[in-house]
Amino acid sequence: MPRSRAPRRTPPLSDPSRQQRQAFRRNLLAWYDRYGRDLPWRRTRDPYRVLVSEMMLQQTQVDRVVPKYHEWLEKFPSLPALARATEGEAVETWYPLGYNIRPRRLHAIARESVERYGGGLPGDADALRSFKGIGAYTAGAVMSFAFDARAAILDTNVARLLFRVLVGTGNPKSHAMRGRLWQLSEIMLPRRRVYDFNQALMDFGALVCVARKPRCLVCPLAGICRSFPLQA
Ligand code: ADE
Repeated sequence: MPRSRAPRRTPPLSDPSRQQRQAFRRNLLAWYDRYGRDLPWRRTRDPYRVLVSEMMLQQTQVDRVVPKYHEWLEKFPSLPALARATEGEAVETWYPLGYNIRPRRLHAIARESVERYGGGLPGDADALRSFKGIGAYTAGAVMSFAFDARAAILDTNVARLLFRVLVGTGNPKSHAMRGRLWQLSEIMLPRRRVYDFNQALMDFGALVCVARKPRCLVCPLAGICRSFPLQA
């Protein structure tokens, strides 16, 4: 007799309908227009500044990042300026954000950018990913926030939000689901306002579709959400 196996939970294959996609984009962007945060890295399109903010925001809360972002840029206003500093200065300036690998990586990126790109960053996702310390998420963020490219992003907050609203069942942490969520992040991208859309995903994941006690009762995506209501 064949051994019985637990049914494998594969992510649903069907893509969101055109209507769902439109409702998602429209409602998310309307929410962002009203509640989106005015954050310092949203006042620049400089790839370096975007990169600094995204590397600081990996695993550190926004309110802790804001003062450090300003301090860092005052001290190292450009990639060449950072490349001229020592690694020790970078690590010291980063303190107390933690994860010292990040200032080391950023410093190495600055030196490599001076050597290979004249002190700039390439507007190409694959070229960005060839830098140690720039993964799929950071490359997508720099491409969409600095180069206005139609590039998808997926961090923990965005993954949770897309999983809840568009998938709803299965293992959100599985490798297959991760791939599916990347696909969904691409599928959902609007043609216009990609920058705002990606920033909106961030804010929505941080303010409404939060990990614990999501604010389902005031959620503008409730009407199309596959997990609604997560709590009454
Ligand atoms: N977390 C990561 N990137 C972010 C961004 N650009 N805005 C707000 N929170 C973030």
